[in-house]
Amino acid sequence: MSFVDDIVAESTNLRERAVKVMPGGITRSTLFLAPHPPYAVRGEGAVITDNTGHQVIDCNNNYTSLIHGHAHPAITSAAVKVISEGTAFGLPTDREVVFAELLAERVGLPHWRFCNSGTEAVMMAIRAARAYTGRDLLIRFSDSYHGTSDAVVAPDAAGVPTGTTRDVLVLPQADSAAFKETMASQGSRVAAVLIDLMPNRAGLVPVPQDFAGLVREQTDRHGALMIVDEVITLRLGTDGLAGRYGIRPDLVTAAKIIGGGFPVGAVGGRAEVLEPFNPLGNGSVSWGGTFSANPVTLAAGLEAMRSFNRTQVEALNTAGDELRATLHAAHIPVSGLGSLLRLRHPDLERLWWSLYERNVMVGTNGLIALSTAMNDTHLDNIREAVLAAYQELS
Ligand SMILES: Cc1ncc(COP(=O)(O)O)c(C=O)c1O
Repeated sequence: MSFVDDIVAESTNLRERAVKVMPGGITRSTLFLAPHPPYAVRGEGAVITDNTGHQVIDCNNNYTSLIHGHAHPAITSAAVKVISEGTAFGLPTDREVVFAELLAERVGLPHWRFCNSGTEAVMMAIRAARAYTGRDLLIRFSDSYHGTSDAVVAPDAAGVPTGTTRDVLVLPQADSAAFKETMASQGSRVAAVLIDLMPNRAGLVPVPQDFAGLVREQTDRHGALMIVDEVITLRLGTDGLAGRYGIRPDLVTAAKIIGGGFPVGAVGGRAEVLEPFNPLGNGSVSWGGTFSANPVTLAAGLEAMRSFNRTQVEALNTAGDELRATLHAAHIPVSGLGSLLRLRHPDLERLWWSLYERNVMVGTNGLIALSTAMNDTHLDNIREAVLAAYQELS
């Protein structure tokens, strides 16, 4: 039996029960790969153990969110302490004040609101932009993933109402001429331009500086807002990837790393842009969220972010740049920036299994997200596994 057959055979019982109670036996589409992924049992630092006892270096890190790997002692004890004091309240807690202060200082946008996922953060930013500008039209770019809400998935995707396309324009990524032309004809209708400066789905290739500058200039010129989706890229600088571009967005969406391993989302913005959420003002937007600003999430997230200061951000980016350079030198097609890498291969499923057998787990899309839990040995093992997997599949 092959390695994959073994893993699948050992998971048969769970898999058969799963398909009876969940479509295809899975809840997150992005985790599925045929015949079925193994089940995680335990994570410690950089390593995961699956239900067959196989151990892998985790380069997926829950799709980039575990910046310190698994069960980081300080994050775990911060969360456990809060759990013992009560996990959720119908009152605000001091942690949201402290966390908003931390994000305001770090990202450079003064006002923040919390929610539970990147999807929700993007929805909230779009709502803010529409409420603030009094306009409906959203411009976004093809092949950029911004979560699962109607406005940001493919307009022809099953289940998306046809009316959605009326208020959303999807333009080609980094096409300055198409963007300028659209802004010239539609600018006065545009509430916001939503951009990911290094879209993962589009291959994790940074948007050209000129194009990012053009989006800033054109949104300013037409009274529209620039939303930078930093759900994945916030880890690349203390003030995110926008900071590295020298761009100050009107709104930023964050999630993943800021939750310390718990569900989270947040929107940061200029004070006047988030003013529609102000219940003391003319408060036109009411937005709750039973678990928004959850104290357990915020305690874990605060610890995670405090332990990811400028020095650690830069060290992790350097480790990523070095890994990418070594892989490039060996002619492995790899893109990305800093601590985020993306392997390209015509058969990503086979690549995934080949790496998994070699004790390395990447994203099902070839994503590698480094964590501070990785040491030099982990990084060497990742490199060797990638080289061996490409050799096997060539
Ligand atoms: C850039 C970007 N925006 C939004 C999202 C949605 O975040 P979530 O999965 O937390 O809803 C993702 C998720 O991967 C993302 O990469």
